Amino acid sequence: MADTKPGFEIRPMTEGDYPQVQEIYEIGLDTGHASWEHEAPDWPEFARLKRLDLCFVAVAEEDPARILAWASASQVSKRHILRGVIEDSIYVHPDGQGRGLAGALLSTLMDAATEAGCWSIHSWVFPENVGSLKLHRKLGFREVGVYHHMAKMTYGPMAGQWRDIIILEKLLEKPEERAEKRALREAEEAGDPVRPLLEKLDSAERQVGA
Ligand SMILES: CC(C)(COP(=O)(O)OP(=O)(O)OC[C@H]1O[C@@H](n2cnc3c(N)ncnc32)[C@H](O)[C@@H]1OP(=O)(O)O)[C@@H](O)C(=O)NCCC(=O)NCCS
Repeated sequence: MADTKPGFEIRPMTEGDYPQVQEIYEIGLDTGHASWEHEAPDWPEFARLKRLDLCFVAVAEEDPARILAWASASQVSKRHILRGVIEDSIYVHPDGQGRGLAGALLSTLMDAATEAGCWSIHSWVFPENVGSLKLHRKLGFREVGVYHHMAKMTYGPMAGQWRDIIILEKLLEKPEERAEKRALREAEEAGDPVRPLLEKLDSAERQVGA
């Protein structure tokens, strides 16, 4: 039988992971198609910019000390009302590319973000970053549009050129939809009659809509 194991495991990122995370970050930035920045931040800056509860690493199954890829999320805005909207970032070491690591990390991030009460994930991707576009579309991200001449590239194959950026979004389950489903599941598991609960939810919805 063919070995169907992916050869990696995903776990939350810790500060101790950062030297390897930073190295993978720098290699990705060096492509000139991952971001406008050319240098990865140090840990204090990374920790300030990111939501650390939504940062993950993929490690090699045969050597769990070896980080192959990472994914992170940051808030798109400081406004409390937009607290459920995050932006993702995914970087895979060249040794790990083409093995589904990015897809598995993004999927983990989507599940964890939903669990954490987020309701939307944004991604900004250069039109030239074919791999990242394919990855996001495959995971159900929808192209919202293009921001034009957002910034002039300072390095890499497009140095000196003003670059556009494609905006993608993935809508997650809204927190109240999730709460409803959880309440129904718990009622079912507890053997409670579900119908009265459904009626209660229906009537609550009618009141909100009134
Ligand atoms: C983009 C990147 C994250 C993809 O990582 P990966 O682990 O190779 O991606 P996956 O193996 O999960 O592939 C997901 C899908 O995208 C496709 N894909 C990935 N890279 C591709 C490429 N360069 N060209 C075309 N398709 C590509 C895969 O074939 C796969 O589709 P499939 O299942 O239909 O075959 C990785 O190349 C990378 O780290 N690049 C440098 C950093 C970067 O640009 N990050 C994104 C910033 S927006």
